[in-house]
Amino acid sequence: MTTTTDRNRVLIFDTTLRDGEQSPGATMSHAEKLEIAQMLDEMGVDIIEAGFPIASEGDFAAVSDIAKAARNAVICGLARAQIPDIDRAWEAVRHAKRPRIHTFIGTSPLHRAIPNLDMDQMADRIHQTVTHARNLCDDVQWSPMDATRTEHDYLCRVVEIAIRAGATTINIPDTVGYTAPRESAALIAMLLERVPGADRIVFATHCHNDLGMATANSLAAVEAGARQVECTINGLGERAGNTALEEVVMALKVRHDIMPFTTAIDTTKIMGLSRRVSQVSGFPVQFNKAIVGKNAFLHESGIHQDGVLKNVETFEIMRPADIGLNEANIAMGKHSGRAALRAKLGDLGFEVGDNQLKDVFVRFKALADRKKEVYDDDLVALMQDSAANTDTDYLQVRHLRVVCGGGEPATATLTMMVDEDEQTVERQGDGPVDAAFACVNALFRHDATLQLYQVHAVTEGTDAQATVSVRLEEEGRIATGQAADTDTILASVKAYVGALNRLRVRRQKTAPDSDTRSIGMFS
Ligand code: KIV
Ligand code: ZN
Repeated sequence: MTTTTDRNRVLIFDTTLRDGEQSPGATMSHAEKLEIAQMLDEMGVDIIEAGFPIASEGDFAAVSDIAKAARNAVICGLARAQIPDIDRAWEAVRHAKRPRIHTFIGTSPLHRAIPNLDMDQMADRIHQTVTHARNLCDDVQWSPMDATRTEHDYLCRVVEIAIRAGATTINIPDTVGYTAPRESAALIAMLLERVPGADRIVFATHCHNDLGMATANSLAAVEAGARQVECTINGLGERAGNTALEEVVMALKVRHDIMPFTTAIDTTKIMGLSRRVSQVSGFPVQFNKAIVGKNAFLHESGIHQDGVLKNVETFEIMRPADIGLNEANIAMGKHSGRAALRAKLGDLGFEVGDNQLKDVFVRFKALADRKKEVYDDDLVALMQDSAANTDTDYLQVRHLRVVCGGGEPATATLTMMVDEDEQTVERQGDGPVDAAFACVNALFRHDATLQLYQVHAVTEGTDAQATVSVRLEEEGRIATGQAADTDTILASVKAYVGALNRLRVRRQKTAPDSDTRSIGMFS
């Protein structure tokens, strides 16, 4: 069970690997999930929600392997209010030093109508399932899904039942991001005041960001007495996402004067995690995102730059180093060696092993040959590209040649590995990107439609690398791809192919009855 003796200590519950991964297109591989879990554990996250074990064999394997590997964090598995779900979650987390079962059911009128349970039947189900979970595990979290739209009297009643049945944490989800800060605080205060036994358990707050208030709502809940915040790295999550871990943690740190609460998070690890989650989920971080956005510490205007140079506190409320961001953007070049590259990547939050360094060094040299100066942002893009497009992928781009601009339709010739078989094809198109994508489609047939195609220059100058993001949709499945190169067309093709590789994984994962969307969140 997670206990804290310090009344002002706030537990951080990270659900990047469960609620975050539920975000359409954010599928992560098994190895990536293990790596993110290890980073979260090292950063000081108190509880890691590692997945939804009954959702698929893949989810089960990820939760149980994370449970076996975790050193400090509590490892939690999600389960609907059904005995087979709870048994499966326990099977997966029981290997952890500190396991937790998290079971939930929708309690608002809209959610009660779906399993067609009346209030009494639902109350019985809650008693039965929480009791069952508690018989298996000492640490049980229970959530009334859509709590913020549940009648207060009924919410008090079911929370009391869950506490009596043995729940040690009661989570209050704002499932549809509907609440506002004052209301979020009042709800926790009301539960603490009215529910017998509320002082013996930890209240958690779990907010979604549909109205852009997730962080404010979470902090308001903490001020009212919640002592666990549920959140994700970069605010990843369905629709507008979940509360962003980095925002809550830094708000509590920077405004400790008015919010005297502490967490166990090593904030210098924030940037590394943010980048890694962005890479493996394929979700780029918005440039002006609080704390971890590319522009979060940039001072563009003359007045700001002048002020910051004279006294950094004039326009900066926190230091880049506090979140693990290295200020010195010193360029590297083709004469830089492996040791310098490794040190630089370390400063940027990328810990690379010897094998990975070998591969990254080759890519770095190729980039330095094309670009006089390689800046921090170039290296971040390069790392993102090498993580997103690897030589174990089903589809791999080998060579691309494009002829365009002569008044004739653009022609592309592409050589690509398709399941270890090298194939070459030539196609024409309406411009170079269209021709190149037509080649990919000729080598790998699919029904996906292109929903998004975005190009950004990483740095300034015509020799800058371009990062390209692509989003595809096929029968409700969404997959994203990212790639970087000084050649924009090549980056486009790599991003497109990366999205197709992810879509292929997603097809396998979402075979009937194998993921959270197909099994449904209702009991
Ligand atoms: O948003 C939500 O209600 C959830 C529950 C499963 C806790 O994610
Ligand atoms: Zn949620």
